[in-house]
Amino acid sequence: MKKVYKIFIPAVLVFLAACTTSIPIETKIPPRPAGQEDMLAFAAPALDTVRVGFIGLGMRGPGAVRRFTHIPGIQIVALCDKHEERVDSSQNILINAGFPQAAAYSGSDHAWKELCDREDIDLVYIATDWQTHAQMAVYAMEQGKHVAVEVPGAMDLDEIWNIINTSEKTRKHCMMLENCVYDFFELTTLYMAQQGLFGEILHGEGAYIHNLEDFWDHYEGDWRMEFNRKFSGDVYATHGLGPVCQALDIHRGDKMDILVAMDTKSVNIPEFLIQKRGVPPEEAYTFENGQNTMTIIRTQNGKTIHIQHDVSSPRPYSRMYQLSGTKGFATKYPVPGYALEIPQATLEGTPNLENLSAHRFVPEEIRRALMEQYKHPIQAELEEQAKMVGGHGGMDFIMDYRLVYCLRNGLPLDMDVYDLAEWSCIGALGRISIENGNAPVRVPDFTRGGWNKIQGYRHAMVSPTS
Ligand SMILES: NC(=O)c1ccc[n+]([C@@H]2O[C@H](COP(=O)([O-])OP(=O)(O)OC[C@H]3O[C@@H](n4cnc5c(N)ncnc54)[C@H](O)[C@@H]3O)[C@@H](O)[C@H]2O)c1
Repeated sequence: MKKVYKIFIPAVLVFLAACTTSIPIETKIPPRPAGQEDMLAFAAPALDTVRVGFIGLGMRGPGAVRRFTHIPGIQIVALCDKHEERVDSSQNILINAGFPQAAAYSGSDHAWKELCDREDIDLVYIATDWQTHAQMAVYAMEQGKHVAVEVPGAMDLDEIWNIINTSEKTRKHCMMLENCVYDFFELTTLYMAQQGLFGEILHGEGAYIHNLEDFWDHYEGDWRMEFNRKFSGDVYATHGLGPVCQALDIHRGDKMDILVAMDTKSVNIPEFLIQKRGVPPEEAYTFENGQNTMTIIRTQNGKTIHIQHDVSSPRPYSRMYQLSGTKGFATKYPVPGYALEIPQATLEGTPNLENLSAHRFVPEEIRRALMEQYKHPIQAELEEQAKMVGGHGGMDFIMDYRLVYCLRNGLPLDMDVYDLAEWSCIGALGRISIENGNAPVRVPDFTRGGWNKIQGYRHAMVSPTS
């Protein structure tokens, strides 16, 4: 239990515990099964048409169905949700877009397996609750399908290793649908970082700060509240972590090594449960997830990452997103800005106090010009259509488009199964840290030795431009 460390423990016992507990805390890395290879830079045979089946048509799923109707080279073969009326609504999306109706699966907790069993599907797209992601992804890969799964891809280490082993064994992609890496600011800033504008990136920040008060009552079966009620740790780290990991070339020359997590007590959600749902206070205050959870991570190459999670404080939406390098700095929230080191003019050996250069943000017109100059080629190609189709301002469309583009061209996907693992493990590892007095915890090398094989993160393109 999380609060064990608050119990008074005699100093001698602490000393004995320190002698027997290994610091950092290590988790088990299962050996790679014989005959299995890693999935680094893995490319599957090109598909002329990507035939897709969707599972999970709640708040998130139908948007994906709609976006897919705007992507060339796809066929929407099947739709599944426990609720028939949700499948019907997504059928209407297809009809309104001039697409044929898809095969429908609903009415039970297991109908999704029949969708995965079909011979005429290449890609299973999963937008269900967190607890069902891993079992669906594993089963779909075992049926010979590529998988795209919503965030986080898996919720504990066993699930993560199961997904990795299944992907390596079946040679099927398992991509997590982390859309924030395609946000225009993050994409452009990544491109700037790759051209060396910020020098060597030493530190990155990211967050999911979003007051979910208006959403809590709309999740199917209250799954999100239930998960937060039971578990501490940053349970939704991927939006903040994904863009930072790409800029830091994680498992493309560096790897996350040690993590420490710390959280505040939870107040606003217990009060919400008491006031809006009539939950008795003693029950409401058994809430495990901290109101604000901070996780700090050190990488093998001596970089740091700071991630935050807060879904109940009255704060403006923020994914924090900052990159700090030896020659520059980027920040997205609350207002986007860049600070770049320009060689300081000196006056007879004395620093010119008027020239602040990197001491402040570049003027707004320079920021805009930089963003135009360093626009990522993927954004340059898709921006107009992405804005038209939408989905969080267009980034969701770029994510889906890139997934289909890479599958159709037989290219490695933008996010591999190890990204899924690294970005999804933060909750489970942070929980271990919190439950052990904020102890350091080793981040497993999910590539099992391959993290340094690829040098630098790049998007795969038919004609390389990035
Ligand atoms: N990337 C993003 O920006 C973003 C935004 C919102 C949600 N999400 C993610 O999308 C996922 C879904 O979130 P949501 O808000 O749509 O939740 P939701 O509760 O509204 O929808 C989940 C849907 O899955 C269905 N489902 C659950 N179990 C099923 C089963 N066994 N068979 C068939 N259908 C089943 C439910 O009936 C429901 O319709 C979550 O992983 C969430 O984290 C991502």
